[in-house]
Amino acid sequence: MMPFVNLTAQREAYREELEAAERAVLDSGCYIGGPEVAALEKELADFCNSGNSDAGCDRAEPKTSAITCASGTDALTIALMALGLKPGDEVIVPDFTFIAPAECVAFLGGIPRFADIDPETLQIDPESVRALIGPKTRGIIGVDLFGQVADFNELWEIAVANDLWLLEDAAQAFGAKYDIGVPPYSDIITHRACTLATISITSFYPSKPLGCYGDGGALFTSDPKLEAKIRQIANHGSRERYLHETVGMNSRLDALQAAILRVKLRHLEEELKVRRENARKYDEFFAEYNARASAGAKIVPQYIEHGCTSTYAQYTVLADDRETFIKKLDKAGIPHCIHYPQPLHEQPCFRGLAQGSENRNAIMASQKAVSLPVCAFTDVDFIINKLRSVL
Ligand SMILES: Cc1ncc(COP(=O)(O)O)c(C=O)c1O
Repeated sequence: MMPFVNLTAQREAYREELEAAERAVLDSGCYIGGPEVAALEKELADFCNSGNSDAGCDRAEPKTSAITCASGTDALTIALMALGLKPGDEVIVPDFTFIAPAECVAFLGGIPRFADIDPETLQIDPESVRALIGPKTRGIIGVDLFGQVADFNELWEIAVANDLWLLEDAAQAFGAKYDIGVPPYSDIITHRACTLATISITSFYPSKPLGCYGDGGALFTSDPKLEAKIRQIANHGSRERYLHETVGMNSRLDALQAAILRVKLRHLEEELKVRRENARKYDEFFAEYNARASAGAKIVPQYIEHGCTSTYAQYTVLADDRETFIKKLDKAGIPHCIHYPQPLHEQPCFRGLAQGSENRNAIMASQKAVSLPVCAFTDVDFIINKLRSVL
């Protein structure tokens, strides 16, 4: 069976560069922090601050800085600590996503409030967010689901009107683009993911669009005070050796992972192009399939909004009859995943919160979603031929 994400083919393609970078770190004697991590942080920030000049990405606003850490989950926790989350504070999160955003809020004693999603883009629904705002609400976490940036234009309007902070969870979307057009920006300009909120985060989990060979993550902010706080929290609450002003944590990206990420970052733009081309081929196939499929057997891809350029961390479809579709995928030997089989409000750890059962679209998506292989080293033509034989 082919892998869902072909990391060995990727390693083979960049083997020389990777092995040279890995050897240099192992021979250097510097394994935590140091020049590799500093260089990666600069390159990540430069990548996010630049973008595609064709799409008008040159911007005069404050530049984002990148701070690496040990995982995307740590990045969310550190961000919430830097934003001053207190026990009992409420944070609005999408009901249909990986658990980490809600988990980190609860881990720090906060209360996640589950917003419904749009039934087509599968992103957090701003109307549902508005309905959940109350006196204890402190912030909103927008998740760039499956690599498409969430509706940050609307989320910003809500945040500004209600004096809330906004956190962007771009764990799946490093490299995505988004057209932004609300104050303080007067024109529509294209931004990269990781530059769209008070603090943004990403994950370098191996299967992510930019992944390392272990756990890793990063935070992004253009506010120097927040950057200083984040660095302090991630380093045991310390700015000066053995002086701990606050309680923090140990969350560091090691030099080996930084060196690996620096190699992969050089190839990211090219890989994202291939992912988008793979997604286009699937789109074309499913459009043709849906034109002949009977009602009750449609298979509809996540809708990508105008103004969004997805990383396609996952190529996810909603299948009316998921059980039959999965049986056919198994028969054809096509790998697949279910992202995500339950809305978060149904997770046992959140049952006591008794909120979210009204989120019809999140429930619907958890019953219909199926993800297909889409990475730059997947032979999507081969998969589509197999799909043709069973659908
Ligand atoms: C949306 C989202 N947020 C956060 C995370 C957590 O990232 P990590 O696995 O690096 O802790 C993930 C990981 O899958 C994710 O998909």
